[in-house]
Amino acid sequence: MQNKSRNFRTVLAGYIRQQDQFGHPISLRYKNNSTFKTFFGGFITILFRMGIIVFLVFEIMKVVDKKSNITNSQYRRNLVEDRRQYQIDLTNFDLAYNVFSSDPIITANIDRYVSVQLQEVYFAWSKDGASYTMDVKDLPLDKCPPGRFLGETVQTDNFGLQFNYKCPTTLNTTLQGGFATKEARYIQVLVGGCNQSILNKTKPNLKCANDSDIIKALDVLELNLLTSNQFVDVNEREGNPVKTIIKNFYATKYISIIKSNFFRKHNLLLYKS
Ligand SMILES: *[C@@H]1O[C@H](CO)[C@@H](O)[C@H](O)[C@H]1NC(C)=O
Ligand SMILES: *[C@@H]1O[C@H](CO)[C@@H](O)[C@H](O)[C@H]1NC(C)=O
Ligand SMILES: *[C@@H]1O[C@H](CO)[C@@H](O)[C@H](O)[C@H]1NC(C)=O
Ligand SMILES: *[C@@H]1O[C@H](CO)[C@@H](O)[C@H](O)[C@H]1NC(C)=O
Ligand SMILES: *[C@@H]1O[C@H](CO)[C@@H](O)[C@H](O)[C@H]1NC(C)=O
Repeated sequence: MQNKSRNFRTVLAGYIRQQDQFGHPISLRYKNNSTFKTFFGGFITILFRMGIIVFLVFEIMKVVDKKSNITNSQYRRNLVEDRRQYQIDLTNFDLAYNVFSSDPIITANIDRYVSVQLQEVYFAWSKDGASYTMDVKDLPLDKCPPGRFLGETVQTDNFGLQFNYKCPTTLNTTLQGGFATKEARYIQVLVGGCNQSILNKTKPNLKCANDSDIIKALDVLELNLLTSNQFVDVNEREGNPVKTIIKNFYATKYISIIKSNFFRKHNLLLYKS
């Protein structure tokens, strides 16, 4: 048990280092919750920052008419001073996740082994910095219906989005700040061993697997997180120069897989036209 969680931490540390290397705004946090450690041997928290850390904002400054040149400007904003809140909803952003395992029996019954929560978080330090408040709201999750990811079809079909992924059924929130700011708003993805009270909310008839089976399952768990991302195609003369693509983040504690590097730099695009 102790060995297992130490091992887990080592892998996570490697993962986080890799994030730094690629400037990737997603971080894994080992939640040092003794109850959870006892029961499940580990709990992964992925704080999904969506470009809050590496915050590259592209804006189309000027599209005089369709035939004129498109100017693509790029800003880096200091989030400590920039108090702005960025509104995101399903008309400009989307995300989905898939948890699976190399063991097909686990994959087929994944809800009995893993609980995943997507949460909107508002975080604020008190004036004296001695305490903080945190408001957390669960986003309802369901199988992804057609038409998600702003109607993108090629990549969503490749990923089998409608068959393999779960999406938040609604999304309308704001992003603000970062880890170093007094106030922050972000979305977090929590992945942990099956929690009966969470499972009861969606599948009340299903029972979590026993603890030893859950720990084994967490060891070979793989997570793929998709987010929509947009960029400006300056060579686009006919249609909309704002293109939507899907980025994926892959995470596992399965050591032989974590070595292959799936991680890509991720930017959040906000645009005006
Ligand atoms: C677009 O930019 C190119 C080079 O920057 C320039 O040669 C061309 O005249 C511009 N076109 C228009 C319509 O402004
Ligand atoms: C999101 O919520 C805001 C108010 O909080 C509302 O004005 C806006 O219309 C909502 N957007 C969508 C797409 O529902
Ligand atoms: C299971 O989830 C509930 C509600 O989210 C939480 O209060 C509880 O601490 C969780 N149980 C464990 C063992 O983490
Ligand atoms: C889950 O629901 C069952 C009945 O559907 C109930 O017996 C059990 O106490 C619930 N467990 C939790 C942790 O809420
Ligand atoms: C957990 O369940 C499996 C069957 O799924 C069983 O083989 C194993 O003995 C159980 N372990 C404990 C500790 O109950």
